[in-house]
Amino acid sequence: MTTAPILTVQDLSAVFPDNNGGLRALQNVSFEICPQEFICVLGPSGSGKTTLLRILAGLLKPTSGKVDFGNGRQPRIGMVFQQANLMPWRTAIQNIMLPLELDGMDHDAAKERARKLIDLVGLQGFESSLPRDLSGGMAQRVAIARALIHDPDLLLLDEPFGSLDALTRERMWTELSRIWQARQKTVIMVTHSIEESLFLADRVLVLTQRPGRIKLDLTVDIPRPREDEMRYTSHFGELAKKLKEAIG
Ligand SMILES: Nc1ncnc2c1ncn2[C@@H]1O[C@H](COP(=O)(O)OP(=O)(O)O)[C@@H](O)[C@H]1O
Ligand SMILES: [Mg+2]
Repeated sequence: MTTAPILTVQDLSAVFPDNNGGLRALQNVSFEICPQEFICVLGPSGSGKTTLLRILAGLLKPTSGKVDFGNGRQPRIGMVFQQANLMPWRTAIQNIMLPLELDGMDHDAAKERARKLIDLVGLQGFESSLPRDLSGGMAQRVAIARALIHDPDLLLLDEPFGSLDALTRERMWTELSRIWQARQKTVIMVTHSIEESLFLADRVLVLTQRPGRIKLDLTVDIPRPREDEMRYTSHFGELAKKLKEAIG
């Protein structure tokens, strides 16, 4: 049985106006994503990764091409950026609740939902902490929980662990895999770490230097759960080599 794609991107191009005929950020990008797939987008800086996510989130209109969400309706989308962007005067749980409050949801109902997400992202005991008292990894968990509060169909992550130290980053990989499996979300995550993409993704899309085109669409056939030891296997090495060569 084949599943219908949740997202079809067709011949997408993005050109930003400049004084020199336009800056081409993305060129003829096409791909499909199935429900509950975990996709990583890898590419050198300036290859249009953030531009692609902004188009998918509906924050930016492509210059040409189409973004088609399976059943015709705009899906609910949750987005997480490189910085957690929390409101400094709100506690962890108040930050997570914010999107529901803006929607006018009843306070107690919103709090109840936020509490479940606190558990999901492993922040029990830090509900009332202010952002300044949270570590970088914790702040990113709050941002992930906030992105999940609307129960989005599609989770877009733009280098969410880029500012974390290596150890915390690896812990976050395990957390994110767990959340992804528990919530059965479709995820598109931008990263520039080959290792990160091999720990997390079902498929890795590699973009070329600007303008970004898809250079490689690699299926990561490493069984889950993925453990630390897998990085010493020859198969991991082969996949990493393919990605490295594609990035150039
Ligand atoms: N709003 C914008 N206006 C003009 N140029 C932009 C804008 N956003 C991105 N760009 C340019 O488009 C290219 C791709 O940017 P971006 O998508 O941020 O790349 P990446 O996330 O892969 O580093 C870069 O050269 C960047 O300077
Ligand atoms: Mg970027």
